[in-house]
Amino acid sequence: MEWNLDEAISYYGSQGAPGDQTALTALLKEIQRENGGIPRYAVEAAARAYGVKEALLLALIRRIPSLRLADTHLLEICCGPNCPRKRNLAEFVEKTWGTNPKKFTVKQVPCMRLCGKGPNIRWDGTLYHQADEALLRKLIENV
Ligand code: FES
Repeated sequence: MEWNLDEAISYYGSQGAPGDQTALTALLKEIQRENGGIPRYAVEAAARAYGVKEALLLALIRRIPSLRLADTHLLEICCGPNCPRKRNLAEFVEKTWGTNPKKFTVKQVPCMRLCGKGPNIRWDGTLYHQADEALLRKLIENV
């Protein structure tokens, strides 16, 4: 039997989503497993079906490290205690590209264990040390 987004949304709705965050997370994980990531149209469809804002689902996706939007780049900003200017970088990204940019997903992640070279970021799996606004602009605007 072929996987169907509407059936999955309906099934997890019957399990308590979106009020039950465990059910909602399970839906997002299933969508990701079936699609290799979570497509924007799936976020829109789930938000519409559950009567919640897309921003709520996008915030959940950002908060859970194993979840990722499909067809977008992934920017991870170290938020460990020893990376200098980490907050500034996250604020710069939000101020420049908004809270829900379409081209990339932003995650603040725990210490990357390279504190002496910080601030550290990872863009699509590639680690960058001593990251600054110019590097972020270069990476994000060249996609
Ligand atoms: S705090 Fe950023 S690498 Fe450790």
